[in-house]
Amino acid sequence: MKKILILFSHPKFEKSRANSALIERIKDKEGVTLHDLYERYPDFHIDVTAEKELLNQHDVIIWHHPLYWYSCPPLMKQWIDMVLEFNWAYGPEGNALQDKTCLNVITTGGSKEMYCSEGVNSFSVNQFLRPFEQTAKLCGMKYLPPFAVMGTHRLNDEDLEDYANQYSKLIVLLQDEISLKELKLATFLNDLPKLKTS
Ligand SMILES: Cc1cc2nc3c(=O)[nH]c(=O)nc-3n(C[C@H](O)[C@H](O)[C@H](O)COP(=O)(O)O)c2cc1C
Repeated sequence: MKKILILFSHPKFEKSRANSALIERIKDKEGVTLHDLYERYPDFHIDVTAEKELLNQHDVIIWHHPLYWYSCPPLMKQWIDMVLEFNWAYGPEGNALQDKTCLNVITTGGSKEMYCSEGVNSFSVNQFLRPFEQTAKLCGMKYLPPFAVMGTHRLNDEDLEDYANQYSKLIVLLQDEISLKELKLATFLNDLPKLKTS
C-alpha cells in the first residue's frame, strides 16, 4: 500500500466548512499522514530536516489547501521555498523526490463556471495551478490533475459530505498500485468514474 502524506495548509481552519468536512473524513485512514502545517508551524519556522524525513517516508504527496488569491496560503509557499532545496529536491544531485506522486487538493469560493476564458477569473483552475505542476515536475515527481471542491459558499452539508466521500475514495485509489496514466487524462480527479458517489 502506498503511503500518503497530506500537507494541509489553512490559516483559519477553525472557521472552515469545506476543508473541515474533507479532513474529518480522511484524517484517521490507515496509511495516511495528515500534516497540518499551520498547527505545526504557527511561527512559520519550518523544521526542514523533519520535513525532508517525512517526505522520504511517503510515496504520494498531497498539497491540500483552500485557493487564496489564485494560489496557496503563505505557509504552504514557505514550505515549498524552504523544503525543496537545491541538490536535494532538484538540481544535478537532487533526486530525493524522484518518481513520487504529487497533486493538489483544493477548495475554491468561485464556481467552476467562473474559471474559464469567458468567466470572471479568465483562466481555468488547472492553469492557476501550473506553478505547482512545474514544481513537482522539476523535482521529478509525477503530477496528477487536481481534486477540487468548487463554489464552496453554495454547498450544503450533504454536498460537502459527498465530496468528503469522493476524497476518501481517491485516497484508496492512490494507495493501490494503480496505473497513473488513466488518472493523468482527467481534468479533475473528481471526474473519475471510480469516485462517483452512488
Ligand atoms: C484571503 C482569501 C483569498 C481567497 N482567494 C480566493 C481565490 O483566489 N479564488 C477563489 O475561488 N476563492 C478564494 N477565496 C475563497 C476560499 O477559497 C474559500 O472560502 C475556501 O476554499 C472555503 O473553504 P473552507 O470552508 O475550508 O474555508 C479566498 C478566501 C480568502 C479568505
